[in-house]
Amino acid sequence: MERKTPLISQEALRQQEEISDYLKLWWQNQGITPVAYVETYGCQQNEADSEQIRGILERCGYGLTDTAEGADLVVINTCAIREHAAQRVFGNVGALVHTKRRHPGQKIFVCGCMMGQPEISARMKNSYAHVDGIFSPHHLWQLPEHLYRVLIRHKKAWAVEDSAGAIAEGLPLVRTNRLKAWVSIMYGCNNFCTYCIVPYVRGRERSRLPEDILAECRELIAQGYRELTLLGQNVNSYGKDLGLGLDFADLLGQIAELEGDFVLRFMTSHPRDASHKLFDVMASHDKIAKQFHLPFQSGNDRILKEMNRHYNRAQYLELIEYGRSLMPEIVFTSDVIVGFPGETEAEFEDTLSLIERVRFDALFTFIYSPRPGTPAAKLPDPTPKEEKNRRFDRLLAVQNGISEEKHRAYVGKSFRALVDGRDGDRLTARTDGGRLVRFEGDDSLMGQFVELTVTDSTTWSLVGQISGDGAGRRD
Ligand code: 5AD
Ligand code: SF4
Repeated sequence: MERKTPLISQEALRQQEEISDYLKLWWQNQGITPVAYVETYGCQQNEADSEQIRGILERCGYGLTDTAEGADLVVINTCAIREHAAQRVFGNVGALVHTKRRHPGQKIFVCGCMMGQPEISARMKNSYAHVDGIFSPHHLWQLPEHLYRVLIRHKKAWAVEDSAGAIAEGLPLVRTNRLKAWVSIMYGCNNFCTYCIVPYVRGRERSRLPEDILAECRELIAQGYRELTLLGQNVNSYGKDLGLGLDFADLLGQIAELEGDFVLRFMTSHPRDASHKLFDVMASHDKIAKQFHLPFQSGNDRILKEMNRHYNRAQYLELIEYGRSLMPEIVFTSDVIVGFPGETEAEFEDTLSLIERVRFDALFTFIYSPRPGTPAAKLPDPTPKEEKNRRFDRLLAVQNGISEEKHRAYVGKSFRALVDGRDGDRLTARTDGGRLVRFEGDDSLMGQFVELTVTDSTTWSLVGQISGDGAGRRD
């Protein structure tokens, strides 16, 4: 089968590189080293996009700074998933009027998922005169061209035309972390869950070629990265558009077989496409972290149907059971939405009972937020806000109790963990299951795998100490 997803041509990418080089020279000729500030909202996909934005900006001659004050360029990478995030963006973009007044040469770009929503990008364009450019995720790779238009031609840059999406391979990247790397394996989503805006703003599912992904992973491992997280809105449908007979489980297995000491993670999975084969591959590779983020969204079959999720409660529970039968130590985390339009008290109770049945280590809990343009936003929603808040608090209390108990049960056990940072006088590390452990240790351990014994716990994290000779080798 022929590949359906268009790759941006090498020639088009080269043109952008030429513009980047031109802009770098343009700044040099003025004797200025410009600095750019990139602010990111939302999910890991946006974090990964911001790494590309920083990479492109560096190629255009920009240094990077961590404040909008005094920056020559501000890029706000937005998230559209819930109303609250969108409101914050409007507030913060509005406030940039003042930084621009204090630094009149400052240019301001707004990009990301919100700019993929026509009414929102129109509002940004029409009501925020100090914004110089807007581009949606489909137009990120053309950032040099947008900058050229603003800096050299003194025009505004608007690039928000809708598109099914394409893939730009080989864009420059500035990674924010030296130990942990995001590796996007696919973009977009075809699922159209009725509450979700993502398919409208990020286009159709399109997979990167396996050889490109493997080459990137090999290089990251050679550079010393210790944790790779494969990213996609729905990684389980990886490869469907490629027609190579290779699915996500195959890709995961191939990456796990690469030489080197690293831990491999992935997110996000959709239960509809999470296969037994995927659990089998996880169980048979030491390098794949025994952690699974598997959003269930609701524990009630009618609501799941209304959400267009294509699985039911029993099927979800069966997946969890299968995973645990193969890997008793596996850590499950999940996303859940409270107060979907028309959710009754009894239907909410089904969500609570699913949480009590599965006992997730951690849960990302959301109150339903209507997203204009999605089917769910048109459904009658008679439940008052106060009632939804009450359900949300109840759910949180149940989950906090479970998280606390699960964490307490880790006390006395030993885990291999990657030392990834410092928090005050303690080091921090992540277990293969993704749990955070604080422990006393020397900075020389940073970036190493260590063996930790858990000595204490809280609802959200663990306290530990180095056990044995401390080396977290795989036996
Ligand atoms: N309202 C509330 N939560 C949402 N999510 C996605 N769309 C919405 C919405 N409209 C949640 C889902 C998803 C997570 C990333 O955000 O739980 O898994
Ligand atoms: Fe949104 Fe559903 Fe796609 Fe996840 S799978 S991005 S919730 S439409």
